[in-house]
Amino acid sequence: MRSFPGPTLLAAGMVLFVLPALAQTPQPPATPPAPATQTASPTPPAPGAFGGQNQAAPVNNLPWMNPALDPDRRADMALAAMTQDEKLSLVHGSGNATGASDGGAGFVPGIPRLGLPELNMADSSVGVARNGARGRYSTLLPSTLGEAASWDGQVAYAYGALIGREARAEGYNISIAGGIDLARDPRDGRNFEYLGEDPVLAGESFAKWVRGLQDQIVIGDIKHYAFNDQETGRTIANVVLDERSMRESDLLAFEIGIKKGAPGMVMCAYNKVNGDWSCENDYLLNQILKRDWGFRGFVLSDWGATHSTVKAALAGLDQEQPGAVFFSEALKQAVANGQVPQARLDDMVHRILRTEFASGVVDKKMVEQVPDVFGDLDVAQRIGEASDVLLKNNGVLPLNTANVKSIAVIGSFADVGVLTGGGSAQVDPPGGNAIANDQGAVNLGQAGVFARGAIWWPDSPLKAIVARAPQAKVTFDPGTDIRSAAAAAQSADVAIVFASQPASEGRDENNLSLPGNQDAMIQAVTAANPRTIVVLETGGPVTMPWLARAAGVVEIWFPGARGAEALTALLFDDVNFTAKLPVTFPAGEGQLPMRAIAGPSRSPVPGAPTDQSFDVNYPEKDLVGYKWYDAKNLTPLFPFGFGLSYTDFAYSDLTVDANQVSFTLRNAGTRDGAEIAQIYARRPGDPAGERRLVGFTKLALKAGESKSVTVPIDPMYLSSFDATQHRWIELPGTYAVMVGGASRGDLLTGSFSLTSAVGTNTSDR
Ligand code: BGC
Repeated sequence: MRSFPGPTLLAAGMVLFVLPALAQTPQPPATPPAPATQTASPTPPAPGAFGGQNQAAPVNNLPWMNPALDPDRRADMALAAMTQDEKLSLVHGSGNATGASDGGAGFVPGIPRLGLPELNMADSSVGVARNGARGRYSTLLPSTLGEAASWDGQVAYAYGALIGREARAEGYNISIAGGIDLARDPRDGRNFEYLGEDPVLAGESFAKWVRGLQDQIVIGDIKHYAFNDQETGRTIANVVLDERSMRESDLLAFEIGIKKGAPGMVMCAYNKVNGDWSCENDYLLNQILKRDWGFRGFVLSDWGATHSTVKAALAGLDQEQPGAVFFSEALKQAVANGQVPQARLDDMVHRILRTEFASGVVDKKMVEQVPDVFGDLDVAQRIGEASDVLLKNNGVLPLNTANVKSIAVIGSFADVGVLTGGGSAQVDPPGGNAIANDQGAVNLGQAGVFARGAIWWPDSPLKAIVARAPQAKVTFDPGTDIRSAAAAAQSADVAIVFASQPASEGRDENNLSLPGNQDAMIQAVTAANPRTIVVLETGGPVTMPWLARAAGVVEIWFPGARGAEALTALLFDDVNFTAKLPVTFPAGEGQLPMRAIAGPSRSPVPGAPTDQSFDVNYPEKDLVGYKWYDAKNLTPLFPFGFGLSYTDFAYSDLTVDANQVSFTLRNAGTRDGAEIAQIYARRPGDPAGERRLVGFTKLALKAGESKSVTVPIDPMYLSSFDATQHRWIELPGTYAVMVGGASRGDLLTGSFSLTSAVGTNTSDR
């Protein structure tokens, strides 16, 4: 395991957490300067990509420009000096990529006379997006699903920090990434930019990610709040779910992410939840987010997800994006006629201002520069090495240059590049798409921004393999002609066949099969050469009808700008595999809670008529992912938490209590490696067979080495949500605990008992 610079952030299940700026005690406002009576006339921006206002904050004589003051106090002082129009200018976007902006997805002009900077917002799920339009370079990272597969806080932190550094270098002070919607359905087209199916893994990963990002002086976001768990009909879907199921599934991921990561913003989703649009949903915004969780940042709408003025304002939306349909003139009127109290508008503005002050974006000027391309490529490779999951190995791996004389590389444009994820997360490759659009790539068939088809990044696995095995004869076959691919495989010592499944925002997969003729091609290749390794570049889980014949299978997700080198380092044992699945791989569509994703076949684009709303009743409710398979006693293709290594680990000596779990972990193999140890619990009253992740840790061990490990357990993860009392409670009774290297298989078991109920979350009602 290679290490990353920065804090040591390995274990989940921390009992204590801090919310630095966002948790400070509010101070009473100082006597503010008299409000300006005239409408401000903004200073025109200086020329250049950064505009003038981004840099134009040195109005140091203004009392709120004192960085030593509490952010709430600074916000109160600045607010008191604002005109009504200035306030209104902060609660909506001014269109994306407008002339004055930095070209990102969103833009809010600054207020130079008050020293307030422009807010330039970058989509940045897997790297800073929309870079191509301005000819800028951004590093493409592996899918965030791969980041989750690392189960490693240092990886997540490094991932967020890289995006923060590059965003600032490109002139952005806000990241609108942070997708954490649970992977309820493996066919969801955005799973690649989310964090898997488990709320604890997703929430913990997000928290480390956003701390890495915000440490670079960039405001971070968590999205899409809430239950945007499918792309099909996402702008008209109404998710219907009971409170306990909500709180124990997607909302738990948000709760952990917000409380432990303290993002400055929450993006509300396109869909409705229990009858109300997410961006005018009093339960989600006012009651849960702001009251129960104490969130003190601001809520911005997904792009075009605002549906009203008065209802949205009263329900807790703070900023409309990307334009000004409901939160400009209409809001001004609504405040003037008393439908929206002035205090509510002031609260919106206060939240935006305190987030700007708390994050440092007002005080720390951006410095225009080219991102550290070489340093960041190195980070991308190390994240890739920690993200790729070894799913099967009958001994073919690792490859040994001493005895592999010939390698047939087959399929998926592996001669030129690696596949990238589409939609608003798309990071544009240097030099453009590595494949020609008419070269037979699967076209995603979407309108607008999603119409670009699948894009390959110029990082060739073929070249990386040639460089690593210079003594071998390495050939390439495109895989489009099955007989030719089989012949190429047959004539080589080893075949490495690449298969891809493009994925994008705005669409879901119809099924779990690899598109086109790839399954048939892999069948033929595995039949022709028993030493075939299948490498999957997919948005999420796929089925593998050829699995029994494949000698090795590696899931590399969309592997990023150094995906080829990361994979090669793992295949040739320069680095050991450590990653484990953050999603269940089903044996087939028949195992999924829903045979077909509910809704119309194509998701309407934002702004389309919304009168065809339809209900989505997720049958699994809170039993998302592996919990569904356990409840239904289904055997998936690969369970959640599964992943192989070139060494073996042995677990022993389990002791458990309500606060922590201790055990001994031994590297029982002949190679150094790192193990992701997972702790699952079954609460009193949970049906037999069910379990939930309550903690995990990643531990590096030399061959033969043993260590004793103690992992603290966050009481909230053992708790049940009581919908009558609206709070988390650790129920009295016996808790079964299971510890091991996956959610299924050979797990150590133990138990502890609680004699009386314990309330675990004081912020709940
Ligand atoms: C997506 C968001 C994204 C926004 C801005 C929307 O279509 O759902 O995730 O941040 O566009 O590009």
